[in-house]
Amino acid sequence: MPRLTPENVRRAKEIISRYPRPRSALIPLLHLAQEQDGWLTEDAMEDVAELVGVTPAQVIGTASFYEMFKMEPVGRYVINVCTNISCLLLGGETLLQHAEATLGIKPGSTTEDGLFTLEDVECVAACTEAPCLQVNYRYFYRVTNDDFDRILADLRDGDLSRDIPEHGILSRVPQRIPTGKVANITPPEDQRVPVWIERAAPDKAAAGGDEA
Ligand code: FES
Repeated sequence: MPRLTPENVRRAKEIISRYPRPRSALIPLLHLAQEQDGWLTEDAMEDVAELVGVTPAQVIGTASFYEMFKMEPVGRYVINVCTNISCLLLGGETLLQHAEATLGIKPGSTTEDGLFTLEDVECVAACTEAPCLQVNYRYFYRVTNDDFDRILADLRDGDLSRDIPEHGILSRVPQRIPTGKVANITPPEDQRVPVWIERAAPDKAAAGGDEA
């Protein structure tokens, strides 16, 4: 299974350098690994563990807590249909049934061509726009069955590729922080005074921050 590529190891080290302790970068590195393969491979998680200095079990323990991290391969597009209360009342369940029938799969499965994974999800915080769904966490609001068919066709034809990258890619623009602009990375217990006091009132900071 894929390990982190040399380029992603380089990016991982850059990300780690922004945190007080390497292990604080665990979740950003998991996103990096998922961006690389679309899901979290065991080998990539081992690489992450080594990079941040924790055990593979700790990495799995963290990753498995969050629904967005996938521990098994998923489709190029993960479709989350909300069936929580607002969406349920406005047709979410019907929409999910339509999605199941159209894709020929049940929630939690992936189509044979590897294009789509269907998920039945809890509220995704867009209740005023119910019923709604997400494709790779990009929202579609007030979705009808016809809308769903159109979204599928557009995804298959690549008409949404500009707005919806493949699963795992949260942003096409990698965060770049010049070295001099990295936020304070001194561990809290080593900070004499909070960094915001140091920046806003250097005199008070020099006095130990007592007057702040
Ligand atoms: S209930 Fe569906 S977004 Fe809240």
